[in-house]
Amino acid sequence: MDAIECIVTRASVRKFRTDPVPAEEIREIVRAAQWSPSFKNCQPWQVLAVSGSRKEELTTMLFGFLDQNVAPTPDLPTPREWPEPQNSRIKDMMTKRSVLAGIDLNAPESVLRSKKANFRFYGAPCGLFLMHDASLGPWSILDAGMFAQSLMLAAHARGLATVPQAFLTDYAQQIKEFFKLPATTRILLGFSLGYAADAPDEMPPRPERVPLEEVLSFVE
Ligand SMILES: Cc1cc2nc3c(=O)[nH]c(=O)nc-3n(C[C@H](O)[C@H](O)[C@H](O)COP(=O)(O)O)c2cc1C
Repeated sequence: MDAIECIVTRASVRKFRTDPVPAEEIREIVRAAQWSPSFKNCQPWQVLAVSGSRKEELTTMLFGFLDQNVAPTPDLPTPREWPEPQNSRIKDMMTKRSVLAGIDLNAPESVLRSKKANFRFYGAPCGLFLMHDASLGPWSILDAGMFAQSLMLAAHARGLATVPQAFLTDYAQQIKEFFKLPATTRILLGFSLGYAADAPDEMPPRPERVPLEEVLSFVE
């Protein structure tokens, strides 16, 4: 698979087989992602991989917060509202996913079920957390975004599937305590990592992309 095909065919996967991901595979994809560009080569990223009983304990802890209605306090604030055209795109994606799932994804019980599916890492054997030190500024978040995409592309190239998950950062402080991470850590994004349960042609359709003309303009 060439680079373009890898970018275009990577998809967020939300149904995994339980087969474990060998540690060497995880090293391989993180080693590749380390070649992402960063501002002045400052490489502001750290990855924590969790699996086995610790992952199960983490899921149980996160379910507990949901059941007790603990307010989420992610390190990166969740947007309260979105401007246009992004808001319409999000609504469109949610409506299409609701139709596919046969449920109203905006209903409170569906939101709870969806958060639990996220906290279960969609059944994947491995969870990843992308982090950096909270003293770093916004450019480092941009760097981390590049790292995140490289990581997912490297995984895809090796036959592994991923989904990036903001929901996994909802209880950032408690997660830091769970892993005994320094309080100065900023948890940027979580991921599920594993082998896709379905063949590509059995997966739900990808959200569409906007027409190229809305994204690209040429000036001569
Ligand atoms: C920063 C970020 C946060 C996301 N958070 C979640 C999440 O919490 N749960 C989830 O299931 N998908 C999440 N996604 C996946 C998006 O829904 C997905 O990337 C988007 O719908 C496009 O689909 P594709 O990845 O298959 O191209 C997130 C993606 C990004 C980049």
